[in-house]
Amino acid sequence: MPGKAARFHPPAGEPSDRKANDDRRTLATDLSDPGGLPSSAIDDAVALMKTGRLHRYGEYGGTEPHARLFEQEFAEYVGSRYAIGLNSGGCALFIGLKVADVAPGDAVLVNAFNLAPVPGAIHHASAKAVLVEVDGDFRINVPDLREKAKASGARVLLLTHMRGHIADMDQVVAVCDELGLTLVEDCAHTMGAKWKAVFTGRFGAVGCFSTQTFKHINSGEGGILITDDEDMAAKAILYSGSYMLYRQHGNAPDEAVFEKWKRKIPNFSMRLSNLAACVLRPQLREMAWRAEQWNRLYRELENRLNAVEGIAVPPREADERFVASSIQFHVYGLNPPQIRDWIARCTDRGVAIKWFGRSEPMGYTSLYQHWQYLESQDLPETTRILQTTCDMRIPLSLTRQECAAIADIIQSERSRILLN
Ligand SMILES: Cc1ncc(COP(=O)(O)O)c(C=O)c1O
Repeated sequence: MPGKAARFHPPAGEPSDRKANDDRRTLATDLSDPGGLPSSAIDDAVALMKTGRLHRYGEYGGTEPHARLFEQEFAEYVGSRYAIGLNSGGCALFIGLKVADVAPGDAVLVNAFNLAPVPGAIHHASAKAVLVEVDGDFRINVPDLREKAKASGARVLLLTHMRGHIADMDQVVAVCDELGLTLVEDCAHTMGAKWKAVFTGRFGAVGCFSTQTFKHINSGEGGILITDDEDMAAKAILYSGSYMLYRQHGNAPDEAVFEKWKRKIPNFSMRLSNLAACVLRPQLREMAWRAEQWNRLYRELENRLNAVEGIAVPPREADERFVASSIQFHVYGLNPPQIRDWIARCTDRGVAIKWFGRSEPMGYTSLYQHWQYLESQDLPETTRILQTTCDMRIPLSLTRQECAAIADIIQSERSRILLN
């Protein structure tokens, strides 16, 4: 928020004299603070709650149309023909795989640097994840994608734009076209982001988004699937749990398309709640502003972190029009026990850093080696890269002074570790 002053706490039990304690300050801002919802979202939610119509469909009379309107507004925002609301990003991925005709036992290509809901969605579809290497800039390795696609015979690529890092989509789409791969994009970290002039989610047959609290717009839980294909859209609506009320979807395919599918598609009860849609609509209208704020903070942190010895934020390509809600960097010159200590010390001072080199899954973070329900696979390049990969959230409320304080804390704790 413009004009907000930096907030720091002196370490517990210390005098509050800022100068004397300058190198031991803690950051007061919680880096996982999602921020409050816009007041119009709160007002609309209260009005909706007064009607009790929190389920999206009406049975005999009408209903409050938030889910339908949110879908229409989202489709308009990204330029897709259809958008279907779901109750999580993970559901969107699962249904995305189902509408791409992934059958039990099928191989699905997926980038190995990822988070648990993604292999989870593949497993949910009873498919087999074939992991693809990533590069030092956290993006899928295209030569490895080509090789694994040929070796596995997979027909589908589930591409996560992990932590907002967008691969060269010209190259990815060319490989998909050449090898006949259906592309399902996981845009949980790229709402509002583009490769060149095209929104992520618009390169594949299906794009999947999340509106879980730590994403770009927040309804606690929620997901969206976009597509231009009328069969995929009708199937996704039926899978989501529309019963025979699918006509209440605003931008739905024609009746004839539902006629084809309505007796064949099971109802998975993964609908978007009307209440979730209601709070998302005002946030979607703020997306351009949010993107601008996040990227301003990202550039500030990137400059400051790159000035710290042993820290490197990989450069982004000009065509990658990301919307950062987190920042990733490599840490060099510390061994794994030192990295663990350094992160613990930074976290103690309010700078919560996640590390993808941990031998154990922790919090939201896990590695491909931890997903033991998958066939065991070895990705030496990804393993090497993740050993040095760190990750930090960027709350929208961060100030420039706090960005400076974060870099100071990271630097001073690194120096302390090296002195010990
Ligand atoms: C990369 C990625 N994909 C998909 C999801 C799934 O989103 P959700 O939490 O809404 O199921 C997440 C969630 O954090 C994620 O990080």
